[in-house]
Amino acid sequence: PETGCLSVIVLGASGDLAKKKTFPALFNLYRQGFLQSNEVHIFGYARTKISDEELRNRIKGYLDKNAANEPSEDVLKFLQLIKYVSGSYDNEEGFKLLDKAISEHEESKKSAEGSSRRLFYLALPPSVYPPVCRMIKKCCMNKSDMGGWTRVVIEKPFGKDLESSEKLSTQIGELFEEPQIYRIDHYLGKELVQNMLVLRFANRFFLPLWNRDNIANVQIVFREDFGTEGRGGYFDEYGIIRDIIQNHLLQVLCLVAMEKPVSLKPEHIRDEKVKVLQSVLPINDEEVVLGQYDGYKDDPTVPDNSNTPTFATVVLRIHNERWEGVPFILKAGKALNSRKAEIRVQFKDVPGDIFRCQKQGRNEFVIRLQPSEAMYMKLTVKKPGLDMNVVQSELDLSYKQRYQGVPIPEAYERLILDTIRGDQQHFVRRDELKAAWEIFTPLLHRIDNGETKPISYQPGSRGPAQADELLEKAGYVQTHGY
Ligand code: BG6
Repeated sequence: PETGCLSVIVLGASGDLAKKKTFPALFNLYRQGFLQSNEVHIFGYARTKISDEELRNRIKGYLDKNAANEPSEDVLKFLQLIKYVSGSYDNEEGFKLLDKAISEHEESKKSAEGSSRRLFYLALPPSVYPPVCRMIKKCCMNKSDMGGWTRVVIEKPFGKDLESSEKLSTQIGELFEEPQIYRIDHYLGKELVQNMLVLRFANRFFLPLWNRDNIANVQIVFREDFGTEGRGGYFDEYGIIRDIIQNHLLQVLCLVAMEKPVSLKPEHIRDEKVKVLQSVLPINDEEVVLGQYDGYKDDPTVPDNSNTPTFATVVLRIHNERWEGVPFILKAGKALNSRKAEIRVQFKDVPGDIFRCQKQGRNEFVIRLQPSEAMYMKLTVKKPGLDMNVVQSELDLSYKQRYQGVPIPEAYERLILDTIRGDQQHFVRRDELKAAWEIFTPLLHRIDNGETKPISYQPGSRGPAQADELLEKAGYVQTHGY
């Protein structure tokens, strides 16, 4: 790994994302020794005029449970690494000050094998990405005489449709090369999402079965048991497809469906993901159910006539040799009956079934991404006892039990470490992003134009009943243990 001076610059330092995700992730990396005090400095940058100490006080309570009242020694040491610079996002003055602060830090560490590694984390709304990137490029690039690099980390929403996303990509692409741009999709940092390739390509069990001959359907499901609380204004502009499905669930789909990459090199993996996306057929309106929970429009920041879906089930069809005819059902919803994200792979019925005396459940392989990471296989076994009855049971790998005491890193922690290490495997490449927008843009435009409207559903329910009907039509067979 590279050594020398590292500056992490969090832009939008007093915002929600920075407080809740970025700083705590940096703290955890620090606590585990991935960020060394003698190398790293963290800079917060935002418009608000506050002191270093005020920023430290604002984020302290998010670092760990007791940090607000009784900060540990680790917390105190970490906070000392943070400096604050205030300035606007579109003029040079603030960025020159920022550059000065970073350069001073680099000068002070020069003796420690001075390289100039600068990681800019944009915890900001995408509307300011272009001016901020321009300012970074103009005022804050790494000092090349010291070696090192400059990287920028950005997070969705990357535009609202194909056209706006491409425009944003072009604006940023004129300033930075693709290897300098890290587009975060935090689902790619989740333990069981990262496990997907290992599972598929390191297990003989799955290799021959993972195709249209054996798999009946695949569901990728995201549920939340709370609404858009406090984020109604943002959410209403985007909706559940742009917020969850077009990015998080589609990324998961790529890992479930892609062919084996040539190697684990980021480019090889991303090449395969792009191919999957490019093979997805246009979405058929008959295979879409949209919903909006009752009470969504009570939020004063949501317009009374909002058409924005807070729930969607969309069937995607992949036109290739492996998946022709297998529905990939993506489902996401807010204000539902539970909080869960999982992948469900349902296998076809057993041909020539000799146990027909009792209705069989199908084999199903479930990967629960959260909460309580687990993988389990639903399979049919003989019901213990004197009679020859069969029963659906489970082979269960629950991470809490199997890996007791092994902490599972937070997605952001892992992804930030990757950005420092220069590993882009778990980040979205520009062509991937474009292909993802190509899939959803026509449907999104139809929704935006009011051509398809969401069905209302009760908060705390499973979502509109039509979504279950669609699931059944797509061939999913509900199985029950008995
Ligand atoms: C974010 C969405 O990307 O992911 C939120 O904007 C959503 O609406 C969140 O709540 C879910 O993330 P996680 O990791 O809690 O499943």
